[in-house]
Amino acid sequence: MKFLGKPGSQTAAFQLLCWLFLKILQSGYCHPYNNHYAGDKLIRLIPRSKEQANALKKIYHQLQVDLWQPSSISCLSEETVTDVRIPQNASRTLLAFLQEAHIQYTILIEDLQKALENGSSLQTQRKRRSPSEYNYEVYHSLEEIQSWMHHLNKTQSGLIRMFSIGRSYEGRPLFVLKLGRKSRAYKRAVWIDCGIHAREWIGPAFCQWFVREALLTYKTDPAMRKMLNHLYFYIMPVFNVDGYHFSWTHDRFWRKTRSRNSRFRCRGVDANRNWKVKWCDEGASVHPCDDTYCGPFPESEPEVKAVANFLRKQGKRITAYLSFHAYAQMLLYPYSYKYATIPNFSCVEYAAYKAVKALRSVHGVQYRYGPASQTLYISSGNSMDWAYKNGIPYAFAFELRDTGHFGFLLPEMLIKPTCTETMLAVKNITVHLLKKCP
Ligand SMILES: *[C@@H]1O[C@H](CO)[C@@H](O)[C@H](O)[C@H]1NC(C)=O
Ligand SMILES: *[C@@H]1O[C@H](CO)[C@@H](O)[C@H](O)[C@H]1NC(C)=O
Ligand SMILES: *[C@@H]1O[C@H](CO)[C@@H](O)[C@H](O)[C@H]1NC(C)=O
Ligand SMILES: *[C@@H]1O[C@H](CO)[C@@H](O)[C@H](O)[C@H]1NC(C)=O
Ligand SMILES: *[C@@H]1O[C@H](CO)[C@@H](O)[C@H](O)[C@H]1NC(C)=O
Ligand SMILES: [Zn+2]
Repeated sequence: MKFLGKPGSQTAAFQLLCWLFLKILQSGYCHPYNNHYAGDKLIRLIPRSKEQANALKKIYHQLQVDLWQPSSISCLSEETVTDVRIPQNASRTLLAFLQEAHIQYTILIEDLQKALENGSSLQTQRKRRSPSEYNYEVYHSLEEIQSWMHHLNKTQSGLIRMFSIGRSYEGRPLFVLKLGRKSRAYKRAVWIDCGIHAREWIGPAFCQWFVREALLTYKTDPAMRKMLNHLYFYIMPVFNVDGYHFSWTHDRFWRKTRSRNSRFRCRGVDANRNWKVKWCDEGASVHPCDDTYCGPFPESEPEVKAVANFLRKQGKRITAYLSFHAYAQMLLYPYSYKYATIPNFSCVEYAAYKAVKALRSVHGVQYRYGPASQTLYISSGNSMDWAYKNGIPYAFAFELRDTGHFGFLLPEMLIKPTCTETMLAVKNITVHLLKKCP
């Protein structure tokens, strides 16, 4: 037993090991994202005058805050509610400044690290289940979502076909599900995408929920059967695959794509400002480090180009475009880039009115609806305006729950109520498509 050394030193070595192990645990090893958001706060501010708005713009820029709502500083004016994430080391500076300038604020989330560990099962052991009892009430990583799609393609071949429309910047396939009863006859189609913005995790969760509900209720619900018999649904559960993956592995609050820039170190383009419709005008940024960077040219992002090409190729077959975002609780339609209503406005408005009413009937949750420019803010180069301009008459963008209490960190417990109510809204819009517009 010589090689084990003296019993005393053996114990000491063991204690040292234990201590090291504990230190590793405490130092964030067991916290997702390396405990990076410890002490970060989410703060809501409302500037009450032009001076206050301008002062806020300046300090946001200086402190490099992460704007959650609205998404760009340029949208910020008097009476605009803004939600910002402020890093721990800058929060004291900001709070002191706000008190000095008499700007009202509320702290929505005291500690973002705690909030993100609380609201999700990232931390706890994720239950491994067989694919047939897939858990739709947790957020899923990109790998999990893709294997779910492969599984459906194998087991639900009567209603589902999976294909790829191209590759992302980092080379990942851009998968789409085609859902609907196969038919030789000409069928119109609805396009649905989720996850254009990486950190809005409720989006992909809804796309998955939609597919599940369609499969579950096809046989029993006459409205669903009619939808799947008369239409195809093209569903892209994760549009911005690289960004979504990055939001799981590195930065929970990443929004953009992951493309590189030749002149700046900042990566990524806002995939909802990169479309060829009033590209890079109001509500988009020319600076690569901004979260609303429009990119070097329209469709510079391979993800945007792939979807635009697919929709162009489908032509008139696609009669509705639905895009899922978070958060604000709104149902938006064109225009986004200007204050004006679209021609045949009343049909679209009526569909939105019915959808919002249907949504509210489930849990009483209120959505605002209207043209995006007036209801949310002006933004140019986004997918909804592009779809509309390219001949898709019904173009909508959903901003799902909530209104800032959890923001992007919507707890998994709220996936089910959010998706249930949204499902009813989507069905109402779709049924509306099958009728003649009044
Ligand atoms: C806060 O920390 C980050 C890096 O963790 C650093 O880049 C930044 O300059 C710091 N900000 C302040 C105001 O100290
Ligand atoms: C933790 O999560 C629960 C339920 O999801 C929520 O009610 C509670 O407010 C959360 N607490 C914090 C500190 O975020
Ligand atoms: C989906 O299934 C079909 C038929 O089984 C197959 O040809 C196709 O390659 C599958 N799609 C993907 C993306 O694997
Ligand atoms: C508006 O409605 C009319 C009649 O329903 C239709 O012919 C026309 O194409 C529509 N215009 C647009 C831009 O959707
Ligand atoms: C549309 O919404 C109403 C409630 O406003 C609801 O009763 C109806 O079932 C919905 N239709 C569909 C097809 O989901
Ligand atoms: Zn979004």
